[in-house]
Amino acid sequence: MTSLIEQAKQKAAYQAVDEHVLPTHRVIGVGSGSTVVHVVARLLQRDPELNAKTVFIPTSFQSRGLLLDGGLTVGDVEQYPDIDVTIDGADEVDAQLNAIKGGGAAHLQEKVVAEAAKKFVIVADYRKDSKVLGEQWLKGVPVEVVPFAWRAVLKKLQAQGSNDAKLRMAVAKAGPVVTDNGNFIIDAPFGLINDPVKCLRDIKLITGVVEVGLFCNMAEVAYFGCEDGSV
Ligand code: A5P
Repeated sequence: MTSLIEQAKQKAAYQAVDEHVLPTHRVIGVGSGSTVVHVVARLLQRDPELNAKTVFIPTSFQSRGLLLDGGLTVGDVEQYPDIDVTIDGADEVDAQLNAIKGGGAAHLQEKVVAEAAKKFVIVADYRKDSKVLGEQWLKGVPVEVVPFAWRAVLKKLQAQGSNDAKLRMAVAKAGPVVTDNGNFIIDAPFGLINDPVKCLRDIKLITGVVEVGLFCNMAEVAYFGCEDGSV
């Protein structure tokens, strides 16, 4: 039986695809994570011939695999810098549609593909819907760093007030998580983030930081699947 959460993810994803992927679209960005699985399923369900006319830009090893398994044509932002629409999940979204992303360590590519799109759409289940960032997502802001600088960046993040910032460790390996770009991730909790733009700027100014999992003023719309089945 599909869980309530999975159902919520699916409903949000289906509605976002139905309302934002138009027959005229030729280049579509696809985010990473478990919710975008439903995005790809809906795209294929709506138009099995999509492959012939549309190129999909993945944002991680996982989303590339998802698209290839679906028989879809993949490209990259170097070939296709003008994306019609990008749809992606999120770890938490605030009332202004600022988001925390990077729970799956994919936020660098996700941000590039989101910024290259005319429209960025977020799909998520009800657990991600917050007034203020840091309300529900307690693991902290994911910060991708070049490996040799991780300790120096960690100290700077602590000095910025994230006392519990720590290097993300792999589960099935004795060592840190290594991103698709060969970097490390530091998870930096800042409590409630009332000013995400300032938080993003401050972190981004630390030398050695590659990208910050704060997506500010980027999403045009967010779809949340609710517990009662509505979106
Ligand atoms: C990947 O790094 C993340 O930004 C994901 O987009 C985010 O974690 C959402 O994932 P789920 O759809 O699995 O919740």
